[in-house]
Parts: sequence; structure tokens; C-alpha cells
Amino acid sequence: MNRRRLLVWLGWGSVGAWLSGIASLLTGCAPKSGEDAEGFARFVNLAVLDESGFILQDFFAKDPVIVVRDPADKNVIHAVNALCTHQQCLVNWQQDKAVFVCPCHGSTFAPDGKYLQGPAKAALQTFPTKIHEDDVWVKAD
Ligand code: FES
Repeated sequence: MNRRRLLVWLGWGSVGAWLSGIASLLTGCAPKSGEDAEGFARFVNLAVLDESGFILQDFFAKDPVIVVRDPADKNVIHAVNALCTHQQCLVNWQQDKAVFVCPCHGSTFAPDGKYLQGPAKAALQTFPTKIHEDDVWVKAD
């Protein structure tokens, strides 16, 4: 390869790298795959949620997320990070008591993730939810 061909080849490589960078910038601004324009992603069908009482998705956000209906107001859907704020055990939803309970040391949390009883001292992380066409949508980070 002579010098001229090498320079042309390097020039096209630079253009390609530049276009690739522009493309990644544009896709970084666009919603991720499966998300709407507001950043919500479909989580579960309402009928499925009502049948099972709660839905856990292990890898919805960076951490597992549980979705439940608020027992006091069926029109309200809560999505919480399922990792206990004490030492990161996976909390369980207890439908009959309407609380999240940590099996490791007994912390309890309200349906909206608020801290009720320790040893955890902080609420569960929560995520915005919405209902669209009979599905629950959740906005993760
Ligand atoms: S890890 Fe949940 S109470 Fe300790």
C-alpha cells in the first residue's frame, strides 16, 4: 500500500468513526428499546397482576422490581425496588397483610415502599408507574 492509499484509507476510517460517534449520541438521546417517549417500559398486563397479586421482574431496572396494586386504592399501582434497604435481601409481598416483608431480619414496608419497621431505616426505592391499554408501565432509572 502506497502512502496516498494509506492516507485515503485512514481518512475514510476517521469518517466512519465520526459517524459512529454521532449515531451513538443520537441513540443515547432516544428512548431505549421497549420504552415510550417518556421512558416508561411495559411491565405487566393488569389481568396478570390482578391474578397473581404481585409481579417481580429480576432485571427490570438495575435491581429487581416488584409491582403491586395499592390495597387501599385499586387505581394506584406501586413499583418498588425489591432489595431491602438494610442488607439487600429480596423482600416478599404479603397480600393478606398488605406489606413487603424482608425474610432476612424482618423489616416491613408499606405498599408504596415506605419504611414501617426495622432494622432497615430507609424506604424501598420507588419508580413511577402508569396504566396504558390494560398494561402497567414502569419508569426505571
Ligand atoms: S436485609 Fe432486610 S431486614 Fe436485614
